[in-house]
Amino acid sequence: MGNIPPLTAEALRRTAAIYERVKSVIPAMEWVTFVDDVDALMSLKKQRNAVILAHNYMRPEIFHGVADFQGDSLALAREAAQVEAEVIVVAGVHFMAETAKLLNPGRTVLIPDPQAGCSLADSITAADVRLIRARYPGVPVVTYVNTSAAVKAESDICCTSGNARRIVESLGVPEVIMLPDEYLARNVARETAVKIIAWHGHCEVHERFSADDITRFRQQHPGIVVLAHPECPPDVAAAADYTGSTAGMIDWVGVNKPAQVVLLTECSMSDNVAINHPETHFIRPCQLCPHMKRITLANLRSALEEMRHEVTIPADIAERARRAVERMLAVH
Ligand code: 13P
Ligand code: SF4
Repeated sequence: MGNIPPLTAEALRRTAAIYERVKSVIPAMEWVTFVDDVDALMSLKKQRNAVILAHNYMRPEIFHGVADFQGDSLALAREAAQVEAEVIVVAGVHFMAETAKLLNPGRTVLIPDPQAGCSLADSITAADVRLIRARYPGVPVVTYVNTSAAVKAESDICCTSGNARRIVESLGVPEVIMLPDEYLARNVARETAVKIIAWHGHCEVHERFSADDITRFRQQHPGIVVLAHPECPPDVAAAADYTGSTAGMIDWVGVNKPAQVVLLTECSMSDNVAINHPETHFIRPCQLCPHMKRITLANLRSALEEMRHEVTIPADIAERARRAVERMLAVH
């Protein structure tokens, strides 16, 4: 414990209500290592006129401790567009920060670690999109938000895991190209009559779940409810009781209040949701997203202390990428 800065009674008092909230998932000994950063972030947000938008995969000390708004990719995009504060700090991965900048270009958007990437975003380039378009002339390109702004700029419309089917069907065409998540595309294809041409990108977190995992959970925990993210392989989605975005899974738990549940998605989700649903027992297989886990209280604090790392997007790319994201937000 030698590296822990000395705690003041005031900092402990100021953060006591937050600790009350997270104490079921954060031991007291660990919390004392967070108090100084949580306390500093509370005043830095005021000083800088900043808000923190946190994805559902953030650790509980960020998600419940310092975030002003929490959600899935779709909710974060909608919220980013409406932020009036001068600074938006994205506690999430780089494509989320780019989306925030696209939708609210007048704000300063910071990401605490610019290396916080995504295996899906890394799976495709703008040149790949141009090639696939040339191969299927006239077929619209629906691009998952988990992509760079440069890839979005080559697309007709974006989608998230929360609205993918709705977006595909909104186009009113018999066939679409859906990039870059093969499994999301195949999971949407199971639910729609629209023919889908897919790319071969995968989420390195969700691709690790298998249908055998579900069989094992059901054997070991009779009656358990299995919720899966649509980035999981199609046989996993088919064997689950419900498939939906991270927000979809949270809503499902809130509405159905299962006695036991397993969320086939990133580790921190279960901790974050369990805090709000003490009546439900969460089985927690841990699949960690190394990119999401790059965001910590310490680098959130230095982001606001030093106003880094600012997200910028070249104007020509931003204009075209924004069009694709705004088209998505216009679909209800
Ligand atoms: P959603 O929160 O939009 O479901 O996306 C999950 C994800 O993997 C984001 O990286
Ligand atoms: Fe990308 Fe998967 Fe991590 Fe989400 S969980 S940021 S899709 S690698």
